[in-house]
Amino acid sequence: MYEVPSQDGRRAVVTGASGGLGLEVARRLAGAGAEVVLAVRSTERGERAAALIRADHPGARLEVRALDLADLASVARFAEGLLDEGRPLHLLANNAGVMRPRRRTETVDGLELQFATNVAGHYALTARLVPLLTAGGGARVGWMSSSAAHVGRLDLDDLQATRRYRPFRAYAQSKLADLVLALWLAERAGATGVDLASLAAHPGYVRTGLFSAGASVGRSRPRRSLLEAGWLPHQEVDWGAEPLLVALTSPEAGNGAYYGPAGPWGLVGPATLVRPPRRATTGGLGERLAEALGALTGVELAL
Ligand SMILES: NC(=O)c1ccc[n+]([C@@H]2O[C@H](COP(=O)([O-])OP(=O)(O)OC[C@H]3O[C@@H](n4cnc5c(N)ncnc54)[C@H](OP(=O)(O)O)[C@@H]3O)[C@@H](O)[C@H]2O)c1
Repeated sequence: MYEVPSQDGRRAVVTGASGGLGLEVARRLAGAGAEVVLAVRSTERGERAAALIRADHPGARLEVRALDLADLASVARFAEGLLDEGRPLHLLANNAGVMRPRRRTETVDGLELQFATNVAGHYALTARLVPLLTAGGGARVGWMSSSAAHVGRLDLDDLQATRRYRPFRAYAQSKLADLVLALWLAERAGATGVDLASLAAHPGYVRTGLFSAGASVGRSRPRRSLLEAGWLPHQEVDWGAEPLLVALTSPEAGNGAYYGPAGPWGLVGPATLVRPPRRATTGGLGERLAEALGALTGVELAL
């Protein structure tokens, strides 16, 4: 199992740290000595997650802060809180996500929920935190993608799926967009010489709450999803978190790298470098997506 090298003196923000893979990423970073901000939409669930981490690592330095990625005002408030303190940030784990709500759902900003949470919220968060990410030296941004990205398609003319909403298609688009953004930011950092690395990861297949959470959006009672049944090879969060942990902390992981599980169909196994699909590396795509996101969020990710 991957052992996170010492993160003493480093400060991290992990989105979606209330459960699943984000909680595991936060736990392992804190266990390696990082000071971790658990960025969560429910501070109650965040405090419960912090208690679980402290049970394993009594000396863990943790802070729970409210962040709803599906609300751009909440993203701005969260970032302003950190910017006001002015302390450098070394690791940003763009992990939180929502998958396949059955009906198209709009956020307070009028964006489709999966695009808003998985992409626009993380884009705006990263853009707003750039001053802190470039203040300490050697900072990394890790973007959680998915193997769904490998079958996704970016529809730049209809990113919000207003014409036709198909749940998995919108999810796959959002995860492809995360990967495209990771690679675009890596390229920007390389071109401008800014001391910031951007990397991507996908966890394979892990039976977290992701599947029922998405299926339950807009429902009064939680819904189960067939994807929780475990009929495909799957792994636990300790292994599933590894690609993102390697991207964020391995000395061997370079700017622009993409990690995922090495085993069958990329669903299970130890983290290894994986090749981004060609649809993520099409020339100019990142630039156009970043431009669209700048217009949608009112924030420019400038390096
Ligand atoms: N599990 C897999 O097999 C798999 C495969 C490929 C990719 N992924 C990706 O891995 C990431 C983590 O997913 P997971 O499997 O750990 O699922 P999970 O257990 O459902 O965790 C998702 C996390 O995202 C948070 N979240 C959802 N909407 C949010 C919002 N609007 N603002 C802030 N936080 C929000 C959730 O918070 P609450 O506690 O408030 O709900 C939760 O902490 C996602 O990006 C997902 O797309 C997972």
